[in-house]
Amino acid sequence: MKVTRRAALKSIAVLAAAPWFGRARAATVTLTAGVARQQLVPAEYPQTEVWSYNGAVPAPELRFRQGDTARIVVANRLPQPTTVHWHGLRVPNRMDGVPHVTQPPIAPGAEFVYEFALPDAGTYWYHPHLAGYEQVARGLYGVLIVEERDPIRVDRDVTWVLSDFRLNPDASQREDFESLFDLTHGGRVGNTVTVNGRFTVKDGAFAVRSGERIRLRLVNTAVARIFLLRFNSHEPRVIALDGQPVEPHAPERGLVELAPGMRADLVLDCLQPPGSRHLVMDEVNPRSESRLMAIDYSAEPPLRARPPAGPIALAPNPLAEPDVARAGRHEMLFEGGAMGGLREAQFEGERVPLGALVRQHHLAWTINGVAVKEHAHRPALTLRRDGHYVLSLKNDTAWPHPIHLHGHAFRIIARNGVQTPHREWRDTALLAPRERVDIAFVADNPGDWMFHCHILSHQAGGMMAMLRVA
Ligand code: C2O
Ligand code: CU
Repeated sequence: MKVTRRAALKSIAVLAAAPWFGRARAATVTLTAGVARQQLVPAEYPQTEVWSYNGAVPAPELRFRQGDTARIVVANRLPQPTTVHWHGLRVPNRMDGVPHVTQPPIAPGAEFVYEFALPDAGTYWYHPHLAGYEQVARGLYGVLIVEERDPIRVDRDVTWVLSDFRLNPDASQREDFESLFDLTHGGRVGNTVTVNGRFTVKDGAFAVRSGERIRLRLVNTAVARIFLLRFNSHEPRVIALDGQPVEPHAPERGLVELAPGMRADLVLDCLQPPGSRHLVMDEVNPRSESRLMAIDYSAEPPLRARPPAGPIALAPNPLAEPDVARAGRHEMLFEGGAMGGLREAQFEGERVPLGALVRQHHLAWTINGVAVKEHAHRPALTLRRDGHYVLSLKNDTAWPHPIHLHGHAFRIIARNGVQTPHREWRDTALLAPRERVDIAFVADNPGDWMFHCHILSHQAGGMMAMLRVA
């Protein structure tokens, strides 16, 4: 209850300060990236210095409607250059926010105007694409929702931004953003999990009323942490993944998996009795499951006797359907890291043994044998514009990797050679250790697109490539 009231007050304050918040059609939004302080952890601890957009972690949610044109002015008040990438949105290449590839970095004190049409409805997010392992970890991220023209009926539309921070005992952020251990292992996993910018693990509560139908948008903005959520005594249905509608279904084994960068839209029917409490657990570490949030039912009488009958399937977005039978096929091999078999990599045209790669260049990962340091480099693949493609992604490492492609959505068609039940559209494919995942898409957005691991220490550590669509 307390959390909800505070959240409501916060959004009213944002509304008053920024009239664009809520229902923008083509109005200009300004995002100012800067240094701020925020109470991430309980009040007995000090505030934490964060980097944020418009003074809040996560940034105020931006909402547009499908078919709108977004015009977003980004002002940089950070001590570093930055850019903003619109994760999952199929924007024109020059609006993609990739430094030195699609735009020059935005210098401290400077501004950049992003403007793009919004063909797809769904749950998206935005974050810097420069030193992401530091800038995103410090708190620079926000959600961008594109509302359907004809949305499904729910009582409430709620967003949970899942993330974490690595804090010192005095609640300040640990400055070990470039740790070689994180780079060669699972990335910079934090020690303090947050939902909507607050530590919830001990006492976070989400207030609901019995009978309510909620659309719950989950967004994982963490730089390395994977979440595996179980909703005790509830049966959520997945209606969209990475913003793209999917045939409504119960999550596999009841678990909602969200690797960095990923989103899931759920329909949550609150069918438990008034006054009851149920826990949402994170089971990513089976030896130490942890409570993410409590669902607290108010004492009010149920809103309705049985779940609403209305449909929950979303209309598909206008994505070109890949023809798998005649698609061009390419393999992408992901190697490196601790406990992997990689001995040497191609780096800037030379063969470099792994030890030297790590110590001298802070690189530990490769795609098709190549490690890259900067965004601008030779394309790993050149795809024909409007060509149909299947990329077979093979993880030959001991670590999971969420692999993200810019500018496109793709279908996940097979895992280890077995067809997937939902052939879901996504922009990020999670590859388990040693797993092979086949994705299919039409390369219909011309330009140079990054293709990288969204564990941001891995991205900085070489696991990035460029796909050219020409
Ligand atoms: Cu969300 Cu290239 O990133
Ligand atoms: Cu990775």
